[in-house]
Amino acid sequence: MEHIGIFPGTFDPPTLGHLDIIRKAKKICNHLIIAIAIKPDKKSLFSPEEKKEMLQKISSDTDIIAFQGLIIELAKQKKASFLIRGLRSESDFEPEFQMAQANKRMGGIETLFLMADERYSHMSSTLIREIAYFKGPLHDFVPKEIEAMIRKKFP
Ligand code: COA
Repeated sequence: MEHIGIFPGTFDPPTLGHLDIIRKAKKICNHLIIAIAIKPDKKSLFSPEEKKEMLQKISSDTDIIAFQGLIIELAKQKKASFLIRGLRSESDFEPEFQMAQANKRMGGIETLFLMADERYSHMSSTLIREIAYFKGPLHDFVPKEIEAMIRKKFP
């Protein structure tokens, strides 16, 4: 049986933490879809096209799409077996648990949680945007292939 997994997120920008989850997810799914959520309530620094370009640079063999609306609608359309989410620390659990329950109730889809490597347990896209804004070192936080794209945002 083919297992299609969807890893949704805002990826503003993608980080080494996201890449860690992508690598782990690829071992579990036959087909992984990275889904960039376009959220009107969350103003993004990067456009969906820029996020797609960055994700393609770090995971070229993966299907990458942008979506608006409910993730369960995308999951149904793509005939996904499960959603994938990373857990960085205990504080991620409660909101993720709520989302997983809601998605299960609305669309009957399971969420598979993957533990983030402890090196990435402190990481967030906001933190990376702030380091980039102050021209700090990014090599421990983002894949080198996308560093230039991030730097370009803070000339
Ligand atoms: N490594 C690094 N950072 C990580 C991470 C990891 N493994 N896991 C999470 N993060 C960070 C992200 O960088 C992001 O940081 P930021 O807030 O500083 O930008 C933050 O954690 C939130 O992560 P994200 O994956 O973007 O989650 P979200 O809560 O913003 O959005 C969606 C989650 C997109 C999956 C969810 O909102 C969704 O499905 N939206 C579609 C609409 C829908 O169906 N809603 C109903 C859901 S029940």
